[in-house]
Amino acid sequence: MQYLEVAGIRVSKIGLGCWQFGSREWGYGQDYAHDEAIRITNKSLDLGINLIDTAEIYGFGQSERIVGRAIAGRRDEAFVATKIWPVMPVAPMVVDRARRSARRLKVDTIDLYQVHQANPLVPDGTTMDGMRQLQRDGVIRNVGVSNYSLDRWKRAERALGTPVVSNQIEYSLAARAPDKDLVPFAGTNDRLIIAYSPLAQGFLAAKYDAGNRPGGVRVTNPLFLEENLTRGHELLNTLRSVAKSHGASPPQVALAWVIRRDNVVAIPGASSVDQLVSNAEASDLDLSDSEDEQLTAASDEFKPLTGVAAAPAWLRSRLSTSRE
Ligand SMILES: NC(=O)c1ccc[n+]([C@@H]2O[C@H](COP(=O)([O-])OP(=O)(O)OC[C@H]3O[C@@H](n4cnc5c(N)ncnc54)[C@H](OP(=O)(O)O)[C@@H]3O)[C@@H](O)[C@H]2O)c1
Repeated sequence: MQYLEVAGIRVSKIGLGCWQFGSREWGYGQDYAHDEAIRITNKSLDLGINLIDTAEIYGFGQSERIVGRAIAGRRDEAFVATKIWPVMPVAPMVVDRARRSARRLKVDTIDLYQVHQANPLVPDGTTMDGMRQLQRDGVIRNVGVSNYSLDRWKRAERALGTPVVSNQIEYSLAARAPDKDLVPFAGTNDRLIIAYSPLAQGFLAAKYDAGNRPGGVRVTNPLFLEENLTRGHELLNTLRSVAKSHGASPPQVALAWVIRRDNVVAIPGASSVDQLVSNAEASDLDLSDSEDEQLTAASDEFKPLTGVAAAPAWLRSRLSTSRE
């Protein structure tokens, strides 16, 4: 496993995303929540993955509880990151909610406490007052944000008065907006980008097609529309061809591309231990500059339907599913 040292913290380049743990929207069921999720987390630690990412909102506390059970007895091997869902993120609430998360996780100190999204009405000043108190009290070690614009990230940092070490954002070969400013900023300012949905929720695993689309939360992900699966052919074929020359798999190449950027780590979720093992191996997959360029060019060419433009295709797909 490769590691990154940024802003005073040391995290594995491949982490583990735990939204799937105990969350109904992924539809993985009870056996997964009670058994496989624990095995996935333990195997992650065995393989040197230390960055374990969860949130209070995932399964309404279930994910944190599962992580707590899984890392019990192995606390020192994990860098535990969780998030506050920003409903009324005023200082006393922030303090109370972090303490509750720590109890569910069964840890004295949360290594990274992140604001899940910027609250449009509550400014960061009061949120960061709470974060400072939590740091003083030893409940959290580092402060991070998620889904923050660069401007708001900088404002949060000014409000905290010390580094807001990370921004967790959607970033992959199918989600490149952060290349404009967030990724370059982190790379040159000793800050960390934690890339979520680095496999575009499985789209970049190159295993789904029009006749085999995922359900659950991914029903609303426009990438899995038939039209976008077709538009993605070139990108997915490039992933397949680079993967073939390394004896690797498309999702491994997709992850290797993400973590090749300066100060970027990826936190793929996994539906099985096998997937987790395969994702961990991506840490050691060395892409050449020309492979990187090929993948970047194929990603530049990929123009999926999104937003309002995707609505008619989405409606058609819902109607055909309900008729089946
Ligand atoms: N901060 C935020 O707002 C935010 C938002 C979203 C996610 N996150 C975090 O980021 C983590 C990852 O994001 P994500 O779960 O949305 O997307 P992801 O990591 O891109 O995709 C995860 C899914 O891809 C499939 N997969 C994973 N490894 C695979 C492999 N080796 N081969 C084939 N398929 C594979 C699995 O689904 P199937 O096997 O069922 O296809 C898995 O559930 C989450 O767990 C969460 O911690 C944060």
